[in-house]
Amino acid sequence: MSTRKLPLPELASMKRDGRPIVMVTAYDFPSGQVASEAGVDLVLVGDSAAMTVLGLDSTVPATMEEMLLLTRAAARGSTHPLVVADMPFLSYHVDDRDAILNAGRLVKEGGADAVKMEGAGPTLGRIAAVAAAGMPVMAHLGLTPQTATALGGFKAQGRTAEAALRLVDDAYAVEAAGAFALVLECVPAPVATTISERLGIPTIGIGAGHGCDGQVLVYHDLLGYGSGKAPRFVRRYADLRGAAIDGIRRYAADVRDRSFPAVEHTYAMPAEELAAFEHALEPINPLFD
Ligand code: KIV
Repeated sequence: MSTRKLPLPELASMKRDGRPIVMVTAYDFPSGQVASEAGVDLVLVGDSAAMTVLGLDSTVPATMEEMLLLTRAAARGSTHPLVVADMPFLSYHVDDRDAILNAGRLVKEGGADAVKMEGAGPTLGRIAAVAAAGMPVMAHLGLTPQTATALGGFKAQGRTAEAALRLVDDAYAVEAAGAFALVLECVPAPVATTISERLGIPTIGIGAGHGCDGQVLVYHDLLGYGSGKAPRFVRRYADLRGAAIDGIRRYAADVRDRSFPAVEHTYAMPAEELAAFEHALEPINPLFD
């Protein structure tokens, strides 16, 4: 398999040629490596890590320092996919300067190739500013988890004609602002298809049907590594959690019945060295027996 980094303009060619784009989240070195070896096009270091890795209730508390740590690790493992790092809540909401500096940290210190920001409205100027500073920006519309409370919870968006039209307008706006791709999360399939057909930039769907130019799923959801119920748009391809629990249970049983470690897991020493060692040992003091 090639280890050449996917050139960013290749994503636009993939859209033009009708070749689906594959993105998966990764949050550390091994998941970056696994995603690379599986041949995905894009790795997203999502702030979903706040929930999947850090055990929090939402993505809102994710910090720049946490995203940097996760991005550095995942980027080290991601040999050929482009690495997109999520900008955490409030890292791009105050002003353009803040957005550029924080995006710059994810790129310079984290090793990301691009960053992702949620929303349109006030985010449009930030997308333009960061893109103008030379850092590719992926946009994210529909269910935007950082503002899920304001949206009424983790639920599908754009389900009325009015809301769907607003989404189309926002999609045009993020493209005009300079985004190179757009994530559409939990949007009715016909709306996502319409947006995908109308935009020049690729759309990457999650819970948005097959009319998008690509798909993204969260690593823990698709590999069955998380606890709890996966959202309806997830298809599970493995049961890593079940395999891990089973493996650790068998290890614990082997430790408890002393069948692990076995001889092949130990280190030998030359017989004469062992004899000398035993000869030189002080006899065990009977007072302390
Ligand atoms: O944080 C994340 O993992 C995401 C994806 C769900 C698109 O934003």
